Amino acid sequence: MFVTDRPTSNIPTDLVAAIQALKQELNAVILAHYYQEAAIQDIADFIGDSLELSRRAASTTADVILFAGVHFMAETAKILNPHKLVLLPDLEAGCSLADSCPPDKFAVFKAQHPNHIVISYINCSAEIKALSDIICTSSNAVKIVQQIPAQQGIIFAPDRNLGRYVAQQAQRELVLWQGSCIVHETFSEKKLVQLKMQHPNAAVIAHPECEEPVLRHADFIGSTSALLKFSQNDDRQSFIVVTEPGIIHQMQQASPRKEFIPAPPDANNCNCNECPYMRLNTLEKIYLALRDRTPQIQMPEPLQQAARKPLERMLAMS
Ligand code: 13P
Ligand code: SF4
Repeated sequence: MFVTDRPTSNIPTDLVAAIQALKQELNAVILAHYYQEAAIQDIADFIGDSLELSRRAASTTADVILFAGVHFMAETAKILNPHKLVLLPDLEAGCSLADSCPPDKFAVFKAQHPNHIVISYINCSAEIKALSDIICTSSNAVKIVQQIPAQQGIIFAPDRNLGRYVAQQAQRELVLWQGSCIVHETFSEKKLVQLKMQHPNAAVIAHPECEEPVLRHADFIGSTSALLKFSQNDDRQSFIVVTEPGIIHQMQQASPRKEFIPAPPDANNCNCNECPYMRLNTLEKIYLALRDRTPQIQMPEPLQQAARKPLERMLAMS
């Protein structure tokens, strides 16, 4: 458990201006994921999916990276930039999928499949990355699996839903770790079908972290960036979006005349389709992180080195 108790006195009223000033002073860059609240996306220097954010983190010339996303994303930025200051506005911003793969249990699982290589989805801890041969994201997973010789056994971790989807697309048998994301498993097939009946001309676009019964109804499946691009290029005027609704902010900005309908969660009266971890970040916490240069991402050097290799392989293969 992390403690982030800090004095919050003297918070400026114009947070956006204060953040811009601190950014200049520190030579900092703000990288944000599409699942951040709209106000955060609006102040970011770069918004992207996990692969684009990793590439940006690897190539930035800034001295400080403020990551408006979740812990594994900021950790990835640190692994790729060991000498830079990497800030995460709230260290509690974890990921249920990363948490669903504890390193000690995964090491046992890996040992049970000795002739397999490990391809891990980037939504995992640095310890899991260090136990992996190659990292992938939702936008390059199929491409990476397709590059592995057919006779080579592959463990895919931690997301069983993405793993099943990749196995189908690449026509490969994968040994799957049974992890999942609480947000993408919240969508119900029944409610999606009802929504489709109300909007018969809408395209259903979904993230591959969703369960199979939901994905079966999708007209297009892809990473957050791929969903955004599809919504821009497709002629239809209405889209049912089956992923975290934060992405709709960019979709709406790119296509102001189109209609974007967030797929509802299974439960009634909850915001369960919003990622509770992503939504921990706020403008105020971003300001405080830049002002106080904390919370920083830190990890032991050997772990950083071991986790960097599979990440660099991913960047080279995609
Ligand atoms: P993307 O790589 O598609 O942005 O996905 C990140 C994520 O956490 C999805 O839940
Ligand atoms: Fe993790 Fe799911 Fe949130 Fe993505 S949406 S960061 S996989 S908990």
